[in-house]
Amino acid sequence: MADAQIIDGKAFAAGLRERVAGAVAALKADHGVTPGLAVVLVGEDPASQVYVRNKGKQTLEAGMQSFEFKMDETTSQETLLAKVHELNADPRVNGILVQLPLPKQIDEQAVLAAIDPDKDVDGFHVVNVGRLNTGSSDALVPCTPLGCLLLLRDHFGGSLSGKKAIVVGRSNIVGKPMFNLLLQESCTVTVAHSRTADLPGEVGQADIVIAAVGRPEMVKGDWLKPGAVVIDVGINRIDKPEGGTRLVGDVDFASAKAVASAITPVPGGVGPMTIACLLRNTVTAACRQNGIAEPDM
Ligand code: GUN
Repeated sequence: MADAQIIDGKAFAAGLRERVAGAVAALKADHGVTPGLAVVLVGEDPASQVYVRNKGKQTLEAGMQSFEFKMDETTSQETLLAKVHELNADPRVNGILVQLPLPKQIDEQAVLAAIDPDKDVDGFHVVNVGRLNTGSSDALVPCTPLGCLLLLRDHFGGSLSGKKAIVVGRSNIVGKPMFNLLLQESCTVTVAHSRTADLPGEVGQADIVIAAVGRPEMVKGDWLKPGAVVIDVGINRIDKPEGGTRLVGDVDFASAKAVASAITPVPGGVGPMTIACLLRNTVTAACRQNGIAEPDM
């Protein structure tokens, strides 16, 4: 069997960012609305600093307003909640993202619950979780699973109906929303996790495999049904035998690409889709808040 097609998330994300920028230009020209995204970073986590910098840069490149708030590692929950309330009330801000993880003195759920659900571009507020679960059209959908769905729809040319899908991982950020999105697409969906009895056997049934467990190269090629489409959400840094490190996914790419019909690489697969979807969600939120029809993006 020929090697799998490589699903180029980097290129798809670049195209999505262009479509978002086009939608932003039209919002400005036709409605005088410039979408604004506020990102709040508490503390100095190096990975979070990189994400936040990239978010700010790409927000501006799309023609939107970017508001960045860096708060001290020792910030109290009360101070952070006051910032969230201020952003909820600020009409220039259409989307709010509080970077996770938060320092240990702060209750993450309390902060997420304080964000106006209609500005919750992460889709983490229980109201948006409930909207997604019930298939409500006003849900804001978490960015990484949304990015996976857009890649799958593009790959299959629209419909995923009737396909067997497995989501490996049950996190609130990826696994659970991914389950809901695939179910809404009329897939038959299994959610596997650390206690699943026969993981290779379950994965071997699936036409679509979403790997989101955070374990380097866990899903092996010989687990896959021949011709499966594999979406690898993992970003794991591992040591190289010769020294230094490299990024790998949750899928053993070398063995999987010989069995799958298509697969996302790491890096350059799902990763770049997350921020592109954040920008898309911000435009979606801005349109809904202003009673403007949502553009195709
Ligand atoms: N930290 C890592 N990824 C994310 C994300 O998508 N949203 C937020 N808020 N924090 C994160």
